[in-house]
Amino acid sequence: MPAQAMQIRPMGEDQLAAVLAVQAACYPPSMQEPAAVVLARLRAAAATTLVACDGDAVCAYLFAYPSLLGRVTPLDAPFAPAARPDTLYLHDLAVAPQALGRGLARRLVRQLLDAAAGQGLRHAALVSVQDTRRFWEGLGFEPDAGRPPCAGLATYPGSALYMTKRLTGATPD
Ligand SMILES: CC(C)(COP(=O)(O)OP(=O)(O)OC[C@H]1O[C@@H](n2cnc3c(N)ncnc32)[C@H](O)[C@@H]1OP(=O)(O)O)[C@@H](O)C(=O)NCCC(=O)NCCS
Repeated sequence: MPAQAMQIRPMGEDQLAAVLAVQAACYPPSMQEPAAVVLARLRAAAATTLVACDGDAVCAYLFAYPSLLGRVTPLDAPFAPAARPDTLYLHDLAVAPQALGRGLARRLVRQLLDAAAGQGLRHAALVSVQDTRRFWEGLGFEPDAGRPPCAGLATYPGSALYMTKRLTGATPD
């Protein structure tokens, strides 16, 4: 199915098993986060958690929540949405292997970045893992070199990089 025909919608709790299957296909065992944590995150941040679906099949997902610049969610930790957020924190973006390269990841990210900018959040932030720095740079994120290493970054295996982006309006194509 062409990517434009796939639907992006809020994640439902009935999609948890399918989301975990995408996670299992996209991350090594050391980065698999438990079902209970994933469900608690969905409940804490339902307005900023999306799936891309081909019919009923979940092809990709994005978990995010309103946070503060400089804060990182440690691996396996619950979300702690900020009472007075300035940043949309993108915690986990994954595309199932059979749906890679169709622009779904960018569509998911742009949808939440545009909504966050519309709500007045000034920044977006994330931890880049699995050699995705260039993917995020393509969406306007940069390594946040001026900041001391964030607490939580060390919980990620491999090279993990904190990246940020200023939100100034619609995300360019
Ligand atoms: C990273 C990921 C979400 C990208 O998914 P995708 O389906 O390739 O994304 P899109 O089709 O929207 O990608 C669009 C662009 O990003 C580029 N891209 C994708 N992954 C990339 C990577 N790892 N490094 C550099 N560029 C990358 C593509 O080449 C494409 O560029 P183009 O349009 O100029 O050709 C996917 O590879 C994935 O699920 N990885 C495993 C989970 C993961 O590591 N998530 C990121 C955590 S920070």
